[in-house]
Amino acid sequence: MHAAIVTGVSRGLGEALAAALLARSAYVLGVGRRSSAKLAGPRYRFVECDLARPAAIAAAVLPALRELAGLQLSAVTLVNNAAVATPLGLAGQLDIAAADEAFATNVTAPLALTDLFLRSFDASLERRVLNISSGAAQTAIAGSAVYCMSKAALEMLTKAIAADHGEPHFRCIALRPGIFETGMQALLRAQDPETFPSAALFRGFKDSGALKDPEAVAGRIVERLIAGPVEHGRVYDHTEL
Ligand SMILES: NC(=O)c1ccc[n+]([C@@H]2O[C@H](COP(=O)([O-])OP(=O)(O)OC[C@H]3O[C@@H](n4cnc5c(N)ncnc54)[C@H](OP(=O)(O)O)[C@@H]3O)[C@@H](O)[C@H]2O)c1
Repeated sequence: MHAAIVTGVSRGLGEALAAALLARSAYVLGVGRRSSAKLAGPRYRFVECDLARPAAIAAAVLPALRELAGLQLSAVTLVNNAAVATPLGLAGQLDIAAADEAFATNVTAPLALTDLFLRSFDASLERRVLNISSGAAQTAIAGSAVYCMSKAALEMLTKAIAADHGEPHFRCIALRPGIFETGMQALLRAQDPETFPSAALFRGFKDSGALKDPEAVAGRIVERLIAGPVEHGRVYDHTEL
């Protein structure tokens, strides 16, 4: 019996991942500010939690993790999917309070959840952490310094956790999932090029038909990186899905 904890299930890739896992008969615990009506069912539970406030995550999530740990699972996976692309803008015009919240959501919350995950599930079951990164971890996008930095930190978090905790019953990996049509893409292409010069790049993704369908991406992630064998500590690329 497989269970998965997925953050950011209200829409986009997180909603599609939760749906794909439920379709494979997994138990799914969604974590975020709101859920999606599409996911309701007997194997789905939702914990409301603002991931921009990492110090409050333990109190919100631990009871549900303890319940999952009591289910006689064979495998459990944490998918750190939730993230924000804001604040956008060139250095010299940044909102630093918003940057603080973005690092909390994109980096500190995955760290906090990984810590709680490792406390809650011991090596008697197969444990996996999948961090959803981005090509922006490696390639700087003008006007997107906070997001790029946060994804680079998430990839180092993946490697650091793999250094802390070895195999054989634990795997921690990251994925640069490619580009797919979600609210995040819509937000980026709607920006004013004066403040976000990369808006044209994101409009080009849409206009050229380069954006994938999040359901298709989620299906490949579940098959390849959640159900299939993976290499501990590795950062995967969408071309490997
Ligand atoms: N879309 C792409 O092309 C693309 C490319 C590369 C990487 N990614 C990565 O893929 C992942 C999913 O992206 P997406 O495109 O599906 O994004 P999205 O459509 O913007 O959805 C983001 C999800 O994160 C949640 N979230 C944001 N802030 C939160 C907070 N403070 N507390 C709890 N939940 C919060 C949102 O919930 P609310 O409804 O509460 O806001 C939503 O469910 C992200 O890690 C993103 O960086 C996306």
